[in-house]
Formats: sequence, structure tokens, C-alpha cells
Amino acid sequence: MFKNSSHSRRRFLYVGLSGLAGATAVAVGKNIKPIYYSHVFDKPKRDFRVTGQNPLKKRAAAKGLIYGAACGRDLLASDKNLEACIIRECGVLTPENELKWQFLRPRPNVFDFSRADWMAKFARTHNMLFQGHTLVWHSQLPDWFKEVVNRQNAEKFLVEHITTVTKHYAGQIHSWDVVNEAIEPKDRLKAGLRQSPWLKFLGPDYIELAYRVTAQTDPKAMLVYNENDLEHDTPEHEAKRTAVLKLLERLKSRGTPIHALGIQSHLLGHSSLNAKKLRNFLSNVTSFGLKILITELDVIDQKLPSDPIVRDRMIAGMYEDYLSIVLDERAVIAVLTWGLSDKHSWLPMFLPRSDGLPVRPLPFDSNFKPKLAWNAIARAFDQAPKR
Ligand code: G3I
Repeated sequence: MFKNSSHSRRRFLYVGLSGLAGATAVAVGKNIKPIYYSHVFDKPKRDFRVTGQNPLKKRAAAKGLIYGAACGRDLLASDKNLEACIIRECGVLTPENELKWQFLRPRPNVFDFSRADWMAKFARTHNMLFQGHTLVWHSQLPDWFKEVVNRQNAEKFLVEHITTVTKHYAGQIHSWDVVNEAIEPKDRLKAGLRQSPWLKFLGPDYIELAYRVTAQTDPKAMLVYNENDLEHDTPEHEAKRTAVLKLLERLKSRGTPIHALGIQSHLLGHSSLNAKKLRNFLSNVTSFGLKILITELDVIDQKLPSDPIVRDRMIAGMYEDYLSIVLDERAVIAVLTWGLSDKHSWLPMFLPRSDGLPVRPLPFDSNFKPKLAWNAIARAFDQAPKR
């Protein structure tokens, strides 16, 4: 259940006990239903104080961890404040979209690596690791895909894509999100698999095929299975954790070359965490000999209070509680946030706030000033056990 460290027990007590007061404290906030939170209660002495001025990548590295962020090529090339922040804070860079089919494959027989090459060069120039996202996904497929790909040629297209892309970046990639989001229990398919063109045309074995082809062409890269909605104490997330464990167990039992689980960690600011369930899940993942990466961390504040001061404290509380639980697991080797600044988050397009206020999901505000979320991540790295 828990590792023997007093750190875990203390953390569990902290996250568990704060929940009781949390419901009261949160209930007195404006327009908030008395929902049971196990993490957002901002205990009075919770001051989010940090020591020193070190950027996040240095605090992570001091514990044998890697910290970085996702970013888009055009933003990085045009926003000097973003560029400076990425260079200062990040030890790893993930192209937010540039390595997806939508951007790499303008036509069925044409690959365009120009945007992703620019990002690979940026990472190299600034001594950053480069994380590949993603080779096989059901989303952001190019417009021609549905007209061209079918049951007869799907394997050819999949193998050709993976071979061409992983050959092009061979030796440059720290880790590949080989397959992304293959599980969706709500689709009610066998083994909780998500309905997708790949499953439809190739059956469940498309997943193993993807890892075997990637391992052949880039034996140096860490091969990651990346998934969302694994983090919270809800029946849906529990069902997904169970299905993902079964998938990983099946892949490993067949000798599939898979090295890590990527837990996206798009945290729901209004939802609760359960330290015990999360720690058990992480322990079960590591029992397959897998490492763990936190791949797309941010806090979705869509249902949090309007007041930015209250919201920032709740978001920081979520960051610190979540990271203190997952970083207790030494198999967790990296933390990447999905962006660095609120100015460039994916959330306004996908999960805007009903009050129309700007979202505040990331460590830096839209003027690139560090927020309490930055403090929370810094504290989590500073308090994490060394790898
Ligand atoms: O670049 C085109 C532009 O040329 C075109 O005019 C415009 C018209 O809509 O679309 C632009 O592409 C957009 C792309 O982001 C680049 O900005 C797409 O519409 C838009 O859908 C796409 O959104 C991305 C989203 O994945 C797609 O599902 C987000 O930026 C990206 O942050 C998000 O990232 C995903 C991860 O890959 C997987 N995990 C979940 C995460 C959040 O959804």
C-alpha cells in the first residue's frame, strides 16, 4: 500500500485529513456547493513558500527527475517571453502538435518534417531532451485519412508512418508516446479499448505492432504508452486504471517492447484525489517493470471559483497534493506540463470557463510571472525523494 517512508504516511495523513476541513472551507466560498474535496482545502499554514531561486528543471534534476513542457512551434518562434521561460525552466521539450499525423502528413505520400525539425533543433541548441508525441492516435488525423485508409491498407500506412518518422528522429528522441489514448471504457468494447480507425481496421494487435516497429527503428528511445483520465477518485478513472493495467499486463506478457506509462494528468481542479488508490495504481504499473512519466500536467479550473486569488490557491493545492503522491513513487522519472504559461494553454479552446474569465491552469501567468502553481511544483520537486 504505502512505501515505508514516513514521507508517504505524512503525505497521506495530510491529504486525507485536509479533506474534512476542506469541505467546510470550500463550502464557505462564493457559489460553491459543499463538495467533498480531499485536496483543495488551503490549510491556513499552507504558504507555498519555496527556498532559493532555482528554476524547475534544476529542482527536478537535483532529485534525478526531468521537468519540461509542451509547446507549439509558431508560439516558440514568435513569443520571446515564452522562449526565455522555456529555456530557463525546461530540461525536456514536447512538440504540442508538430509530430502528429495532422502536421506531418499533408498528403498520403508526403511527409513534412519542417516544423518538428525546427523544434528538435531548438531542443538540441538549448540542451533539452526531446519527447515525441505521438505516433498512433485516433485524433488529429489528416483530412485525407478517412478517404484513403481502409482495412486493406491500414497496416501499410501505420508501419510506413512509424518507420519513416522514427527513422527521421532516431537518436534524437528521449521518449516516444508510441500509442496515445487507446483505452476508453465508455465505448463498451472488449478490454475497454477505444473505438478508433486503428482498432476498426487492424484489431487490438495494432498496439503491439506499433511498439515492435518503433523499437526496430529507434532502439534508443524509451517507448511510452500515454493515457488520460487516470488520476482522480471517480468510478470512470478507476475503470480506466483497471483497463490500462490489463492492457499493460497483456503487452508485457507478450514481450512487447514497452518501457513506460505516460499519465497525462490533465487534473480536474474540482475533483478529488485518493492517495491510496493512486499509490496502488502506480505500484501496480511498476510491478510490470515499467517507468512512469507525468506527460501533460495542468489543472483544469473550469469549475473553480471566479476569484483568481482563491482559484490560484486551489490550483496550487492540487499541483502540490498530486505531485507529492506521484513523486513518492521512484519509478516516476519525469514531469511535463502541457504548456508553461496561461497565455498559451489548450484549455480556452476546449474547456473554457462559463464566466468567460481567463483560465489559470499553468505555472506562469499570461505575463510569464510565476504563480503559486509554480511554487507548488517547485516544493514538490524539493520534497521528492531522490531517484
Ligand atoms: O494549425 C491549424 C490551423 O492551420 C487551422 O487554421 C486551424 C483551424 O481549426 O486548426 C489548427 O490546428 C489546431 C491545432 O491544435 C494547432 O493549433 C487544431 O484545430 C486544434 O484542434 C488542435 O488542438 C490540439 C488538441 O490536442 C487536438 O485534440 C491542442 O493544441 C493540443 O494541446 C491538444 O493536445 C492533446 C494531446 O495531444 C493529447 N492529450 C490531450 C491534449 C489536450 O487535448
